[in-house]
Amino acid sequence: MDRILIRGGVPLAGEITISGAKNAALPLMAAGLLTEERLVLENVPHLADIGTMAELLAQHGIAVERTGPERRALSLGGRITNTEAPYDIVRKMRASVLVLGPLLARVGEARVSLPGGCAIGTRPVDLHLKGLEQMGARIRLEGGYIDASAAGRLRGANIVLPFASVGATENLLMAAALAEGESVIANAAREPEIADLAACLAAMGARIEGAGSDRIRIEGVARLHGARHAIVPDRIETGTYVCAAAITGGEVHLRGARLAHVGALARILAEAGVDLSETAEGLRARRANGLHGVDVMTEPYPGFPTDMQAQFMALMSVAEGAAMVTETIFENRFMHVPELNRMGARINVHGASAIVRGVKHLSGAPVMATDLRASVSLVLAGLAARGETVVNRVYHLDRGYEAVEQKLAACGARIERLR
Ligand code: UD1
Repeated sequence: MDRILIRGGVPLAGEITISGAKNAALPLMAAGLLTEERLVLENVPHLADIGTMAELLAQHGIAVERTGPERRALSLGGRITNTEAPYDIVRKMRASVLVLGPLLARVGEARVSLPGGCAIGTRPVDLHLKGLEQMGARIRLEGGYIDASAAGRLRGANIVLPFASVGATENLLMAAALAEGESVIANAAREPEIADLAACLAAMGARIEGAGSDRIRIEGVARLHGARHAIVPDRIETGTYVCAAAITGGEVHLRGARLAHVGALARILAEAGVDLSETAEGLRARRANGLHGVDVMTEPYPGFPTDMQAQFMALMSVAEGAAMVTETIFENRFMHVPELNRMGARINVHGASAIVRGVKHLSGAPVMATDLRASVSLVLAGLAARGETVVNRVYHLDRGYEAVEQKLAACGARIERLR
């Protein structure tokens, strides 16, 4: 299994191009099930999770092909020949459950493995299922699978989400696009990836208002057609490299990054002593002086993202003073803490909060993590640490960070992959 070796202590300097957002690409690929015509997605990152979603779509009969310059585009098309999403694929990637709404809406049946828990929490899909039931779907849970069917078209419904779930909003939005009549999703998630999905669906002929706000109105249509859509830049990758610049005391230009999508992070980082400014082509991140501890709490967008919590904690571990980091979205998302502590951080967890007492320097160590963002937080810590850090279980990084070692090395980091 690959590992990543980092010799820390180099302030990053240079430019990194931000890739298309993984969390936008996955639902957009599922949207390929909504039409028999060709859907072309541009700016699709080269990531293991994209490969997993392509494998799942192939299983349903949809051919997925890389095309265009640097093979950055994905072309999807084909007839749905099979409506089962098997356990073997779903267990690798929870976002597989996003095929449920499109399959049901398009062909009236789906059999999707229940995703089950993951390293960061139990993560049920009850909100997806309740919303689809409100739209007329019959749902049974049996043998670890969701068995869903609809007699004829799904019907538009008024759905009030008790929690602004990203995945539930996406599944229901895609289902409603092909349902009969009007749907309203209230307390919808407002993440930029949802607005991006809605923009693509609109290009495919869907009638949607309010995506990106907490109330989305959808007027269902009988058919969607092919389209071409470019995926938004990855705001979590952006935030991660901002933290990389900050933790090393460097300065990095992030080409393609959008300040509007990292507003909460930018405000917190400004308090901590990190400068983020817009440029003609992206964002510049710079740490001029010392870092200060700042408290933060994760929240649904536009709040501080849970997907940036681990990276921010790595940053706070070398700040002056203390920071309290509170996780409100997932119940078990502090697995990076013991590993950061092995590198010399001083972090204590009390329930949903972690107290981070800044130290002068971290020291390199062999480490590993059990999820994507936790893994990258260890990379950040390694960039700042004295000595050598080896990050194990790199496959987590490969799920969500395109060419992470090349991007960092281009800014001077001493980082390499050990095969
Ligand atoms: C998406 C992101 C993930 C991010 C998360 C929160 C993708 C592919 N993944 O995941 O990177 O960390 O948003 O920003 O976009 N919940 C329920 N019942 C449900 C659905 C969710 O209780 O039916 C709970 C979950 O257990 C969790 C919380 O709601 O505690 C947030 O989950 P959700 O917003 O649905 O996240 P995902 O879409 O799974």
